[in-house]
Amino acid sequence: MTLHSVTPAAPQSQQLAAQYDALHAARARTPLVARLYAEAMGEDYPLEVNASSSCDWPLLGLMTARLRMRPGQLLVDAGCGSGGIGLWLARALATRLVGFDVSPVAVAQATARRPGFVSAERAAFRVARLEASGLPDGCAHGAVCVDALSGAADRTAALRELGRLLAPGGRLLATRGLRPGVTPTWEKQARAAGLILESVDERPAEPVMWERLYRLWIAHAEELRCELGDLPAQNMLIEAHRMLPVLPGRRAVLLTLRRASTSPSVPDAAGTMTQPSRPQGGGSVSTERTPQ
Ligand SMILES: C[S@@+](CC[C@H](N)C(=O)[O-])C[C@H]1O[C@@H](n2cnc3c(N)ncnc32)[C@H](O)[C@@H]1O
Repeated sequence: MTLHSVTPAAPQSQQLAAQYDALHAARARTPLVARLYAEAMGEDYPLEVNASSSCDWPLLGLMTARLRMRPGQLLVDAGCGSGGIGLWLARALATRLVGFDVSPVAVAQATARRPGFVSAERAAFRVARLEASGLPDGCAHGAVCVDALSGAADRTAALRELGRLLAPGGRLLATRGLRPGVTPTWEKQARAAGLILESVDERPAEPVMWERLYRLWIAHAEELRCELGDLPAQNMLIEAHRMLPVLPGRRAVLLTLRRASTSPSVPDAAGTMTQPSRPQGGGSVSTERTPQ
């Protein structure tokens, strides 16, 4: 879900944290939002993950394959929300996990969910911003950022920060969306973050899912108001009305960005490069907004 402010201005990241806190707290009070996601995704809904995003089974499958991580390596989940995606991946890939999010409520929820997936030594969650995670250089062999980059005040700085966390050969996976007629500049953005654009996987079901979900939110507006409270429900409805008209022709992808290996002769954590699944172009920076 993407937040659109209906509250008075405050320092930007505090305001963002407060809004996401309210949203995550409201979601935890009722199964309604998860039920609507499940209805919108149908069989593609990964119940256990319970994400606040477009995360479906095809995306979990893609991320599992693209990360190419080894057991015991460190995975970072940036903008982790209530933690389901990182926890699911860490369990599937036998990795360690650090998740971070600007919302303290989300971080507390993720920590509380940890025992359902991995032992306490394997996963930790912290409050931090995409632009300043506070994690050490090169600490991770993989990172995921699902439907969270649009929350960064400076997306280039956020990508640079996430790139900084990667060990040589490590990969960052990020979901992105593009409006029709906009030429992607992902390759250029990757280079600016010190990364190589390794692959672009199309997610054709993503815009259709958002359309179904937004229509469900609108159809259940009164229920959402009753169960979530006015402000969180209002934010969701604003998002639905704002995004529905711009969904036709939308392109959604999973980008795999890789930090170069320092020593090509030594096999690194990341394995070999694959071809992008669609040719990349240059051009102007997109106004992408991944609905969340
Ligand atoms: C749409 S939710 C997705 C959460 C999770 N990735 C998932 O797929 O379930 C976006 C998350 O990103 C977090 N977020 C947004 N902007 C952020 C920022 N600048 N720094 C850290 N977290 C941020 C929000 O608090 C929220 O939990």
